[in-house]
Amino acid sequence: MSILSISGITKNFGGLTVLDGIDMEIEQGKLYQLIGPNGSGKTTLINVVSGLLKPDDGKIIFDGTDITQKGLFDTYKTGLVRTWQIPQPFNTLTTMENFLISSSGNAGESFLIAPLKSKWKNDEKRITDKAMKIMEIVSLVEKKDTISQNLSGGQQKLLELGRAMMSDASMILMDEPIAGVNPTLAHEIFEKISSLCKKQKITFLIVEHRLDIALQYADHVFAMNRGKIIAQGSSDDVIKHPKVMESYLGE
Ligand SMILES: Nc1ncnc2c1ncn2[C@@H]1O[C@H](COP(=O)(O)OP(=O)(O)O)[C@@H](O)[C@H]1O
Ligand SMILES: [Mg+2]
Repeated sequence: MSILSISGITKNFGGLTVLDGIDMEIEQGKLYQLIGPNGSGKTTLINVVSGLLKPDDGKIIFDGTDITQKGLFDTYKTGLVRTWQIPQPFNTLTTMENFLISSSGNAGESFLIAPLKSKWKNDEKRITDKAMKIMEIVSLVEKKDTISQNLSGGQQKLLELGRAMMSDASMILMDEPIAGVNPTLAHEIFEKISSLCKKQKITFLIVEHRLDIALQYADHVFAMNRGKIIAQGSSDDVIKHPKVMESYLGE
């Protein structure tokens, strides 16, 4: 059964049809990659699925809930979380603090409960422990007390991934998670993503331009061109597909 089911998604900007009837079925615990030349509509699709933009037509069902008309925050609450192409951590906070504020289910977040420390002390301990575990997974333990603006570009990407995990996301959408990252770290980031996917059954839909690095980690690839899915399947099959090869010729 699909965790995310997208049908007939259409989005127009003015007179331009940027998404033209997109259908996708996504199963839990797999790593999906979305490829396509510049301007094919990949970022717009991620924006629509995450609730940043509303589609003009079509339907999006996530984990049994119709999220077609939900905004970013309500979509996030269902467990579908997007990280941003450019990491936007709270720059003046440490890595640890960034992790703590990204956690779901912290009673201390509520202004009404915040003054009653006894009510959230247990939460605080639980959330700090969870942050430490996730920091280990994304290799940031040593940077726990570093102000996030002093992290390297690659470490900020790992911070972004860790923050998404703190929210207990069951599915994570990423737009170019290795843009501007050196190849060694880029592989490291994809290895972490791939292992999260397998061990914790977190589902990933990732837009990535650097196919040489990213494709080998994908369980399933969707190729887009001009607002349509033109091919899907294994990395090898999709990359050799005549329509996909043709779509990249102009690049
Ligand atoms: N907010 C917007 N208003 C008007 N046109 C847009 C907007 N966002 C994207 N577009 C257009 O939609 C098309 C798809 O863009 P995008 O989704 O960013 O493609 P990709 O991520 O595949 O490079 C492009 O032609 C782009 O110029
Ligand atoms: Mg894009």
